[in-house]
Amino acid sequence: MSGDARKTAEGLSYLSGFGNEHASEAVPGALPEGRNAPQRAPLGLYAEQLSGTAFTEPRAHNRRSWLYRIHPSAAHPAFRRMDNGALRGGPFTETVPDPNRLRWNPLPEPAAGTDFLAGLWTLGGNGDATQRNGMAIHLYHANSSMERVFSDADGELLIVPERGGLLLHTEFGMLHVEPAHVALIPRGVRFRVELLDDSARGYVCENYGASFRLPDLGPIGANGLANARDFRAPVAAYEDVAGPVEVVNKFCGNLWTATYDHSPLDVVAWHGNHVPYVYDLRRFNVIGSISYDHPDPSIFTVLTSPSDTPGLAGVDFVAFAPRWLVGEDTFRPPYFHRNVMSEYMGLIEGAYDAKAEGFVPGGGSLHNMMSAHGPDRETFDKASAAELRPQKIDDGLAFMFETRWPVTLTPHAAGAEHLQQRYDDVWQGLEKHFRPLH
Ligand SMILES: [Fe+2]
Repeated sequence: MSGDARKTAEGLSYLSGFGNEHASEAVPGALPEGRNAPQRAPLGLYAEQLSGTAFTEPRAHNRRSWLYRIHPSAAHPAFRRMDNGALRGGPFTETVPDPNRLRWNPLPEPAAGTDFLAGLWTLGGNGDATQRNGMAIHLYHANSSMERVFSDADGELLIVPERGGLLLHTEFGMLHVEPAHVALIPRGVRFRVELLDDSARGYVCENYGASFRLPDLGPIGANGLANARDFRAPVAAYEDVAGPVEVVNKFCGNLWTATYDHSPLDVVAWHGNHVPYVYDLRRFNVIGSISYDHPDPSIFTVLTSPSDTPGLAGVDFVAFAPRWLVGEDTFRPPYFHRNVMSEYMGLIEGAYDAKAEGFVPGGGSLHNMMSAHGPDRETFDKASAAELRPQKIDDGLAFMFETRWPVTLTPHAAGAEHLQQRYDDVWQGLEKHFRPLH
């Protein structure tokens, strides 16, 4: 914990907007005018492009940034393999895909001195990091700030804190992230996680596929769901620090380490759209039914990673933010269903309206492809008999990583002590009510 760090975090400036071209300089004159790579970059800096998409991808989806830095990223010694800890990457082949409904309690307390990277624990995933498709689900539980720097070549990282504030020191500047915020670290961007509280706990979606973007809005119109202006990119900030600095690179599922003679967080100015963001989920503009039934949960999509099939996401990030329910003659909680997509749900705070108990903040549930799920018995009984007045759902914040392929568990998730053994029981006792008229 650091009082100074919290003060810094609370005073940070940001650039507003998602996906558009941003520009920032920590020192006046560091950003070149009119060209990306002049013969000599200003102030003796090195110019470097970071490409998040192929050079030739359509303009609407193209992601790249230009960085003006004290040392070029190329100036580093060889990386060497290091222990992966509890971190894994696709392909996930160590267990057989499990059709059962599964639910976990929160991660246990970590050992003293566990930083964000060491605290990452892979639950499972799908696809293949070397093929740049699929995703991984990680949780983290840390009690120490990172001294080292991390980058992920395999995918972007959507960090969903559940407990404890984070100050993310990135190549692009600093992001202050608290529970109910999410942070998006693009593929390859280096960062260090400073804890603002004694410990930090949360979830991470690692997306190997196309970069997360805002969903199209169709008939909703030009506004609504997550508004682009509420995404905040950092302003440039740099470290001019001589080494040694450990830099850890996640590459094709494995961790590699090198000791630099300087901090790689030495970007003095930058411009581009391959940048980190923070977003406050409480800003989400929730759209819902004002007549009967409720829309499918896709209406709560914050960010989507599209695939090459229209409408079929590699992974969607979906948030169940506070909202009013007003549907007439409607079963208002999430309905019973089976889904070709696979659903991992987590809880940031409070309770979730489909489960009376057992689904707790920091825990999570996995409903793999076509597994039957929905409200538990208590919720069903209550909602079937409830008087349908307008009702505010404001006692919890849940989210979902919904992915096109089944999630295969890591052995440590399949055998975890905090895996609940009797999750199926929540659907026991749903009585037969059928009464044929004749
Ligand atoms: Fe579901």
